[in-house]
Amino acid sequence: MKYSLLSTAVTAKATDCLVLGVWTKGRLSAPAVAVDTTLDGALSRVTGSGDVSGKVGDTLLLHPHSGLAKRILLVGCGDEGALDARSYRKAVGAAIKALLKSSAKDAVFTLAELPLKDRDIAWATTLLVQECDANAYQYDQTKSKKKPEYALKSVAVSAASAETRKAQTEAVKLGASIALGVAATRELGNLPGNICTPTYLADTAVKLGEKYKTISTKVLNEAQMKKLGMGSLLSVSAGSAQEAKLIVMEYKGATKADSKPVVLVGKGITFDTGGISLKPGLAMDEMKYDMCGAASVIGTLTAIADLGLKLNVVGVIAAAENMPGSKATKPGDIVTSMSGQTIEILNTDAEGRLVLCDALTYVERFKPRTVIDIATLTGAAVATFGDQTSALLSNNQALADELLQLGQHTLDFAWQLPLWDEYQSLLDSNFADIANIGGPRGGTITAACFLSRFTKQYRWAHLDIAGTAWVSGAQKGATGRPVPLLVEYLRTQKA
Ligand code: BES
Ligand code: MN
Ligand code: ZN
Repeated sequence: MKYSLLSTAVTAKATDCLVLGVWTKGRLSAPAVAVDTTLDGALSRVTGSGDVSGKVGDTLLLHPHSGLAKRILLVGCGDEGALDARSYRKAVGAAIKALLKSSAKDAVFTLAELPLKDRDIAWATTLLVQECDANAYQYDQTKSKKKPEYALKSVAVSAASAETRKAQTEAVKLGASIALGVAATRELGNLPGNICTPTYLADTAVKLGEKYKTISTKVLNEAQMKKLGMGSLLSVSAGSAQEAKLIVMEYKGATKADSKPVVLVGKGITFDTGGISLKPGLAMDEMKYDMCGAASVIGTLTAIADLGLKLNVVGVIAAAENMPGSKATKPGDIVTSMSGQTIEILNTDAEGRLVLCDALTYVERFKPRTVIDIATLTGAAVATFGDQTSALLSNNQALADELLQLGQHTLDFAWQLPLWDEYQSLLDSNFADIANIGGPRGGTITAACFLSRFTKQYRWAHLDIAGTAWVSGAQKGATGRPVPLLVEYLRTQKA
């Protein structure tokens, strides 16, 4: 899909579909009033009929008989003066869904012009592009019959005024870059485990480095990881025919080359059977999305490279497949991590933390200003937050506050759980420095406690995206979260 900012007045542009907001009680939004005048009151006659509720997300597709636009899509935006960010997202989502059902090839959206109670027009413009792209995404890479393409090929966003034009142009670009990253993340998450292996993730990262000259990718194989002492990470891939990979992507955008980077670390379990602590069969297919943390790192780097962000960022992916087998790690096995700490593996299904801990030690070499890991780490995060909210835990409250605030801002929500010392003793082991599980209670917290043993050298936050990276049910698939949150975080850092 192509996205642009409309350079002319809405009433001067011929389009396949013009998208206009209507408020409750049949009131037309300001852009709709202008169109109504051009159409000699045709729109007010429709709203006057009482057929348009104006309820957020209600839509009505019209085929006016005069020039201007082939179609007009009226979208309910609720009570005038009450539109907030969440309702706006709902209205935009409903509009694009209705539009994709039509055969309109291009469209002009005027919804970003509507006043929001809690956001500015740049935000509204960016979100509109993101939302359109997310709805237009279709997965068909592994279908023999490709889905028919949507007719819609380009979306233009109307400018509110000459003054907002520059900010809105940048906002369209930002939305398109985020959308690119989100789509890349979803595609990787949706690919099956037999295609999307650790090697596939590594190849994808290498290609990203070839596409953007600001990114350089390096891939460590198992022999190289063994030399580094990554006994914990390697214990996860021990039962698999697929070789584990540590993927390092360096994005250099800062004007000062030595500017300290933000480091993103992604869990890249390309399939999680549980290992010897085998998972039950029900919905096990979904464990192909256990690499969505890794995918979100690739997606975020895609977005910031596309944006040309002036910041140094390192993306590190710990990629492995968790399988049972005669060479697999067994419950009770003890391994030595790169940090030197020994780990008693009481449950081989708690493998995410085992690959992450060595990656988290590895990234010390970048002297990071901040490290954020992103992982589908615990079922407990799904139980606690469902699919709306990522769990956030951090050793630095200022960092946590920043991410929480940006989660609200982007609607890519996160919520904090405590990382208090009182929980640490749950990881005590009789036979090693630390156990890899903390018992059945407080699972998201004890998982983060485990990681915290390896992140003492820097400011660190952990995002457990087990709930948010994926939607289950008939529409199951990867969501691309938390790419919007991560891009916003990076975008708001000073070089
Ligand atoms: N990948 C899973 C977590 C997960 C569960 C992600 C459901 C998405 C949906 C992780 O490796 C895992 O198996 N965690 C265990 C940890 C337990 C053994 C301490 C869990 O959450 O049950
Ligand atoms: Mn597991
Ligand atoms: Zn897992």
